[in-house]
Amino acid sequence: MKANYLRLSVTDRCNLTCLYCRPSKSVTQLKQDELLSFEEISNIVGLAAEWGIRKVRITGGEPLVRNNIIDLVKMVSRIKGIRDLPMTTNGVRLEEFARPLKKAGLSRVNVSLDSLDRKKFARITGQDNLDQVLRGIRAAREASLEPIKINVVILKGINEDEILDFVNFAWGKSLIVRFIEYMPINGPEQNSWYFSNASVKEIIERRWGTLKPLPFFSHYSPARYFKIDHTKVVLGFISPISQPFCHACTRLRLTATGKLRPCLGSNLEIDLRKPLQGKNRDYEIKASFDLAMNEKLKRRPEPLYQRNKYMFQIGG
Ligand code: 5AD
Repeated sequence: MKANYLRLSVTDRCNLTCLYCRPSKSVTQLKQDELLSFEEISNIVGLAAEWGIRKVRITGGEPLVRNNIIDLVKMVSRIKGIRDLPMTTNGVRLEEFARPLKKAGLSRVNVSLDSLDRKKFARITGQDNLDQVLRGIRAAREASLEPIKINVVILKGINEDEILDFVNFAWGKSLIVRFIEYMPINGPEQNSWYFSNASVKEIIERRWGTLKPLPFFSHYSPARYFKIDHTKVVLGFISPISQPFCHACTRLRLTATGKLRPCLGSNLEIDLRKPLQGKNRDYEIKASFDLAMNEKLKRRPEPLYQRNKYMFQIGG
Protein backbone atom coordinates (compact mmCIF):
# COMPACT_ATOMS: atom_id res chain seq x y z
CA MET A 1 0.00 0.00 0.00
CA LYS A 2 1.25 3.45 -0.88
CA ALA A 3 -0.33 6.76 0.05
CA ASN A 4 -1.88 8.63 -2.87
CA TYR A 5 -3.51 11.40 -0.87
CA LEU A 6 -1.77 14.41 0.71
CA ARG A 7 -3.46 16.76 3.15
CA LEU A 8 -1.78 20.10 2.73
CA SER A 9 -2.15 22.62 5.55
CA VAL A 10 -1.48 26.12 4.24
CA THR A 11 -1.83 28.09 7.48
CA ASP A 12 -2.40 27.61 11.20
CA ARG A 13 -4.59 30.72 11.30
CA CYS A 14 -8.34 30.59 11.46
CA ASN A 15 -11.18 33.09 11.59
CA LEU A 16 -13.05 30.89 14.09
CA THR A 17 -12.02 29.57 17.50
CA CYS A 18 -13.93 26.29 17.75
CA LEU A 19 -13.78 25.11 21.30
CA TYR A 20 -12.49 21.63 20.47
CA CYS A 21 -9.97 22.70 17.84
CA ARG A 22 -8.57 26.08 18.75
CA PRO A 23 -9.23 27.16 22.33
CA SER A 24 -8.07 30.77 22.31
CA LYS A 25 -5.89 30.36 25.41
CA SER A 26 -3.50 27.96 23.69
CA VAL A 27 -3.03 29.78 20.43
CA THR A 28 0.42 30.94 19.42
CA GLN A 29 0.47 31.78 15.77
CA LEU A 30 3.21 31.00 13.32
CA LYS A 31 5.08 33.93 11.80
CA GLN A 32 4.75 34.55 8.09
CA ASP A 33 8.30 33.42 7.33
CA GLU A 34 7.71 30.12 9.14
CA LEU A 35 5.09 29.17 6.55
CA LEU A 36 6.13 27.40 3.39
CA SER A 37 6.00 29.78 0.43
CA PHE A 38 3.79 28.94 -2.55
CA GLU A 39 6.88 28.10 -4.54
CA GLU A 40 8.06 25.69 -1.86
CA ILE A 41 4.61 24.09 -1.66
CA SER A 42 4.47 23.73 -5.43
CA ASN A 43 7.89 22.14 -5.57
CA ILE A 44 7.00 19.67 -2.83
CA VAL A 45 3.66 18.77 -4.42
CA GLY A 46 5.36 18.36 -7.81
CA LEU A 47 7.78 15.83 -6.33
CA ALA A 48 4.99 14.22 -4.31
CA ALA A 49 3.07 13.72 -7.56
CA GLU A 50 6.12 12.07 -9.13
CA TRP A 51 6.31 9.87 -6.04
CA GLY A 52 2.66 8.82 -6.40
CA ILE A 53 0.36 11.40 -4.79
CA ARG A 54 -2.79 11.90 -6.88
CA LYS A 55 -5.10 13.82 -4.57
CA VAL A 56 -4.23 16.96 -2.61
CA ARG A 57 -6.62 18.40 -0.06
CA ILE A 58 -5.97 22.00 0.97
CA THR A 59 -6.64 22.55 4.68
CA GLY A 60 -5.53 24.76 7.57
CA GLY A 61 -6.25 26.30 10.03
CA GLU A 62 -8.68 27.92 7.66
CA PRO A 63 -7.17 27.81 4.17
CA LEU A 64 -9.19 30.79 2.93
CA VAL A 65 -7.40 33.15 5.34
CA ARG A 66 -4.01 32.46 3.73
CA ASN A 67 -3.08 35.46 1.58
CA ASN A 68 -3.47 34.93 -2.17
CA ILE A 69 -4.80 31.40 -1.72
CA ILE A 70 -6.27 31.50 -5.25
CA ASP A 71 -2.75 31.75 -6.67
CA LEU A 72 -1.74 28.64 -4.76
CA VAL A 73 -4.78 26.71 -6.02
CA LYS A 74 -3.84 27.70 -9.57
CA MET A 75 -0.26 26.51 -9.06
CA VAL A 76 -1.21 23.16 -7.52
CA SER A 77 -4.01 22.45 -10.01
CA ARG A 78 -1.48 22.69 -12.85
CA ILE A 79 0.82 20.06 -11.38
CA LYS A 80 0.96 16.95 -13.54
CA GLY A 81 -0.47 13.88 -11.81
CA ILE A 82 -2.79 15.70 -9.38
CA ARG A 83 -6.26 14.56 -10.36
CA ASP A 84 -8.32 15.73 -7.42
CA LEU A 85 -7.87 19.02 -5.56
CA PRO A 86 -10.51 19.53 -2.86
CA MET A 87 -10.45 21.92 0.11
CA THR A 88 -11.75 21.67 3.67
CA THR A 89 -13.03 25.05 4.87
CA ASN A 90 -15.24 26.49 7.57
CA GLY A 91 -17.17 28.28 4.84
CA VAL A 92 -17.00 31.75 6.40
CA ARG A 93 -15.32 33.24 3.32
CA LEU A 94 -16.74 30.85 0.73
CA GLU A 95 -19.35 33.25 -0.61
CA GLU A 96 -16.57 35.49 -1.82
CA PHE A 97 -14.18 32.73 -2.86
CA ALA A 98 -16.32 29.96 -4.40
CA ARG A 99 -16.20 31.20 -7.99
CA PRO A 100 -12.54 32.17 -8.12
CA LEU A 101 -11.63 28.86 -6.45
CA LYS A 102 -13.51 26.91 -9.10
CA LYS A 103 -11.91 28.97 -11.84
CA ALA A 104 -8.47 28.39 -10.33
CA GLY A 105 -8.99 24.62 -10.58
CA LEU A 106 -10.31 23.55 -7.18
CA SER A 107 -12.41 20.36 -7.51
CA ARG A 108 -14.83 20.67 -4.60
CA VAL A 109 -15.20 21.63 -0.95
CA ASN A 110 -15.93 20.02 2.39
CA VAL A 111 -17.46 22.49 4.80
CA SER A 112 -17.09 22.05 8.56
CA LEU A 113 -20.34 23.03 10.26
CA ASP A 114 -21.25 21.92 13.77
CA SER A 115 -24.49 23.77 14.43
CA LEU A 116 -27.48 25.04 12.48
CA ASP A 117 -28.57 27.17 15.41
CA ARG A 118 -27.20 30.69 15.39
CA LYS A 119 -26.56 30.95 19.12
CA LYS A 120 -25.02 27.53 19.40
CA PHE A 121 -22.88 28.11 16.32
CA ALA A 122 -21.52 31.21 18.07
CA ARG A 123 -20.91 29.26 21.27
CA ILE A 124 -18.93 26.54 19.48
CA THR A 125 -17.00 28.75 17.06
CA GLY A 126 -16.71 32.01 19.00
CA GLN A 127 -18.24 33.93 16.07
CA ASP A 128 -21.76 34.81 14.99
CA ASN A 129 -21.18 33.67 11.42
CA LEU A 130 -23.77 30.97 10.72
CA ASP A 131 -25.54 32.96 7.99
CA GLN A 132 -22.29 33.66 6.24
CA VAL A 133 -21.44 29.95 6.22
CA LEU A 134 -24.88 29.03 4.85
CA ARG A 135 -24.45 31.62 2.09
CA GLY A 136 -20.99 30.19 1.45
CA ILE A 137 -22.41 26.69 0.98
CA ARG A 138 -24.96 28.10 -1.47
CA ALA A 139 -22.20 29.89 -3.38
CA ALA A 140 -20.15 26.68 -3.54
CA ARG A 141 -23.12 24.88 -5.03
CA GLU A 142 -23.69 27.66 -7.57
CA ALA A 143 -20.03 27.47 -8.52
CA SER A 144 -20.29 23.65 -8.91
CA LEU A 145 -17.66 22.90 -6.29
CA GLU A 146 -19.47 19.58 -5.92
CA PRO A 147 -20.12 17.13 -4.41
CA ILE A 148 -20.22 19.27 -1.25
CA LYS A 149 -19.77 17.40 1.99
CA ILE A 150 -20.69 18.90 5.34
CA ASN A 151 -18.51 17.72 8.25
CA VAL A 152 -20.29 17.71 11.60
CA VAL A 153 -18.43 16.89 14.81
CA ILE A 154 -21.03 15.84 17.38
CA LEU A 155 -20.10 16.86 20.93
CA LYS A 156 -21.96 15.37 23.86
CA GLY A 157 -24.05 17.93 25.70
CA ILE A 158 -23.37 20.59 23.08
CA ASN A 159 -24.85 19.74 19.69
CA GLU A 160 -26.07 16.16 20.02
CA ASP A 161 -29.63 17.52 19.96
CA GLU A 162 -29.10 18.74 16.39
CA ILE A 163 -28.51 15.35 14.74
CA LEU A 164 -31.96 15.17 13.16
CA ASP A 165 -31.76 18.83 12.13
CA PHE A 166 -28.61 17.99 10.18
CA VAL A 167 -30.42 15.11 8.47
CA ASN A 168 -33.17 17.53 7.42
CA PHE A 169 -30.52 19.97 6.27
CA ALA A 170 -28.92 17.27 4.08
CA TRP A 171 -32.30 16.39 2.68
CA GLY A 172 -33.45 19.90 1.90
CA LYS A 173 -30.21 20.95 0.28
CA SER A 174 -29.07 17.68 -1.38
CA LEU A 175 -25.83 17.75 0.55
CA ILE A 176 -23.84 14.85 1.96
CA VAL A 177 -23.69 15.29 5.73
CA ARG A 178 -20.94 13.35 7.51
CA PHE A 179 -20.90 12.84 11.23
CA ILE A 180 -17.36 12.77 12.64
CA GLU A 181 -16.57 11.32 16.04
CA TYR A 182 -14.81 13.80 18.23
CA MET A 183 -11.16 12.86 18.82
CA PRO A 184 -9.70 14.03 22.15
CA ILE A 185 -6.50 14.99 20.37
CA ASN A 186 -5.15 17.20 23.09
CA GLY A 187 -5.60 14.84 26.00
CA PRO A 188 -7.88 12.15 27.38
CA GLU A 189 -9.56 14.47 29.89
CA GLN A 190 -11.62 15.89 27.03
CA ASN A 191 -13.28 12.51 26.59
CA SER A 192 -16.45 13.91 28.13
CA TRP A 193 -17.35 15.43 24.73
CA TYR A 194 -17.13 12.10 22.96
CA PHE A 195 -20.40 10.92 21.41
CA SER A 196 -20.23 7.67 19.44
CA ASN A 197 -21.43 7.39 15.87
CA ALA A 198 -23.34 4.27 16.91
CA SER A 199 -25.47 6.58 19.05
CA VAL A 200 -25.82 9.11 16.22
CA LYS A 201 -26.97 6.35 13.89
CA GLU A 202 -29.39 5.02 16.46
CA ILE A 203 -31.02 8.43 16.83
CA ILE A 204 -31.41 8.73 13.07
CA GLU A 205 -32.72 5.19 12.67
CA ARG A 206 -35.30 5.70 15.40
CA ARG A 207 -36.75 8.48 13.28
CA TRP A 208 -36.06 7.30 9.72
CA GLY A 209 -35.76 3.50 9.92
CA THR A 210 -32.75 1.28 9.27
CA LEU A 211 -30.11 3.01 7.16
CA LYS A 212 -29.00 1.14 4.06
CA PRO A 213 -25.23 0.78 3.65
CA LEU A 214 -23.65 2.00 0.42
CA PRO A 215 -20.50 -0.17 0.36
CA PHE A 216 -19.02 0.86 -2.99
CA PHE A 217 -19.35 4.52 -2.30
CA SER A 218 -17.00 4.26 0.65
CA HIS A 219 -14.24 2.19 -0.92
CA TYR A 220 -11.39 4.71 -0.61
CA SER A 221 -12.67 6.73 2.30
CA PRO A 222 -12.62 6.40 6.06
CA ALA A 223 -16.29 7.38 5.93
CA ARG A 224 -19.01 4.74 5.86
CA TYR A 225 -21.93 5.89 3.77
CA PHE A 226 -25.61 5.04 4.18
CA LYS A 227 -28.87 5.98 2.53
CA ILE A 228 -32.17 6.68 4.17
CA ASP A 229 -34.39 4.06 2.56
CA HIS A 230 -36.70 5.26 -0.22
CA THR A 231 -34.96 8.63 -0.35
CA LYS A 232 -31.88 10.14 -1.97
CA VAL A 233 -30.40 11.22 1.35
CA VAL A 234 -26.82 10.01 1.78
CA LEU A 235 -25.22 10.26 5.22
CA GLY A 236 -21.61 9.55 6.13
CA PHE A 237 -20.11 8.35 9.40
CA ILE A 238 -16.44 8.85 10.20
CA SER A 239 -15.64 6.95 13.39
CA PRO A 240 -11.95 7.29 14.25
CA ILE A 241 -12.53 6.24 17.86
CA SER A 242 -15.09 3.45 17.70
CA GLN A 243 -14.04 2.08 14.29
CA PRO A 244 -10.43 3.04 13.56
CA PHE A 245 -9.77 3.03 9.84
CA CYS A 246 -5.97 2.93 9.82
CA HIS A 247 -5.97 -0.10 7.51
CA ALA A 248 -7.82 1.91 4.85
CA CYS A 249 -5.96 5.19 5.32
CA THR A 250 -4.02 6.31 2.25
CA ARG A 251 -3.13 9.82 3.39
CA LEU A 252 -0.03 11.70 4.44
CA ARG A 253 -0.02 15.21 5.91
CA LEU A 254 2.13 18.23 5.25
CA THR A 255 2.02 20.94 7.93
CA ALA A 256 2.07 24.64 7.10
CA THR A 257 5.72 24.78 8.17
CA GLY A 258 6.77 21.94 5.87
CA LYS A 259 6.74 18.91 8.16
CA LEU A 260 5.60 15.66 6.61
CA ARG A 261 3.52 13.54 9.00
CA PRO A 262 2.64 9.89 8.42
CA CYS A 263 -0.52 10.06 10.47
CA LEU A 264 -2.65 12.34 12.62
CA GLY A 265 -1.85 10.16 15.59
CA SER A 266 1.90 10.01 15.08
CA ASN A 267 4.39 12.42 16.59
CA LEU A 268 6.89 11.87 13.81
CA GLU A 269 7.50 14.95 11.69
CA ILE A 270 9.93 14.91 8.77
CA ASP A 271 11.17 18.33 7.76
CA LEU A 272 10.97 18.94 4.02
CA ARG A 273 11.93 22.61 4.03
CA LYS A 274 15.66 22.10 4.50
CA PRO A 275 16.10 19.32 1.91
CA LEU A 276 14.16 21.53 -0.50
CA GLN A 277 17.16 23.90 -0.56
CA GLY A 278 19.73 21.13 -0.84
CA LYS A 279 21.71 19.65 -3.72
CA ASN A 280 19.90 16.31 -3.68
CA ARG A 281 16.49 17.90 -3.47
CA ASP A 282 14.44 15.52 -5.59
CA TYR A 283 15.98 12.42 -4.10
CA GLU A 284 15.69 13.63 -0.51
CA ILE A 285 12.10 14.75 -0.76
CA LYS A 286 11.01 11.48 -2.34
CA ALA A 287 13.04 9.53 0.26
CA SER A 288 11.17 11.48 2.95
CA PHE A 289 7.88 10.34 1.47
CA ASP A 290 9.18 6.75 1.52
CA LEU A 291 10.20 7.19 5.16
CA ALA A 292 6.80 8.60 6.13
CA MET A 293 5.13 5.72 4.31
CA ASN A 294 7.27 3.13 6.12
CA GLU A 295 6.32 4.71 9.44
CA LYS A 296 2.69 4.69 8.43
CA LEU A 297 2.76 0.98 7.68
CA LYS A 298 4.11 0.16 11.14
CA ARG A 299 1.60 -0.51 13.81
CA ARG A 300 0.94 2.73 15.64
CA PRO A 301 2.33 2.57 19.18
CA GLU A 302 1.23 6.02 20.35
CA PRO A 303 -2.27 6.83 21.41
CA LEU A 304 -4.13 9.53 19.50
CA TYR A 305 -3.42 12.14 22.14
CA GLN A 306 -1.01 14.87 21.07
CA ARG A 307 -0.47 16.89 24.23
CA ASN A 308 -0.28 20.61 23.60
CA LYS A 309 -1.10 20.17 19.94
CA TYR A 310 -4.45 21.06 18.51
CA MET A 311 -6.00 20.17 15.19
CA PHE A 312 -5.31 23.60 13.70
CA GLN A 313 -1.58 23.09 14.33
CA ILE A 314 -1.40 19.62 12.84
CA GLY A 315 -3.69 20.41 9.94
CA GLY A 316 -7.40 19.63 10.06
N1 5AD B 1 -12.09 15.56 16.45
C1 5AD B 1 -12.79 15.28 15.32
N2 5AD B 1 -12.85 16.09 14.26
C2 5AD B 1 -12.15 17.23 14.34
N3 5AD B 1 -12.03 18.21 13.45
C3 5AD B 1 -11.22 19.15 13.98
N4 5AD B 1 -10.82 18.78 15.22
C4 5AD B 1 -11.40 17.59 15.46
C5 5AD B 1 -11.38 16.70 16.56
N5 5AD B 1 -10.69 16.94 17.67
C6 5AD B 1 -12.70 18.19 12.15
C7 5AD B 1 -13.07 19.54 11.63
C8 5AD B 1 -13.06 19.34 10.12
C9 5AD B 1 -12.31 18.05 9.91
C10 5AD B 1 -11.20 18.16 8.95
O1 5AD B 1 -11.83 17.67 11.18
O2 5AD B 1 -14.33 19.94 12.08
O3 5AD B 1 -14.32 19.22 9.58
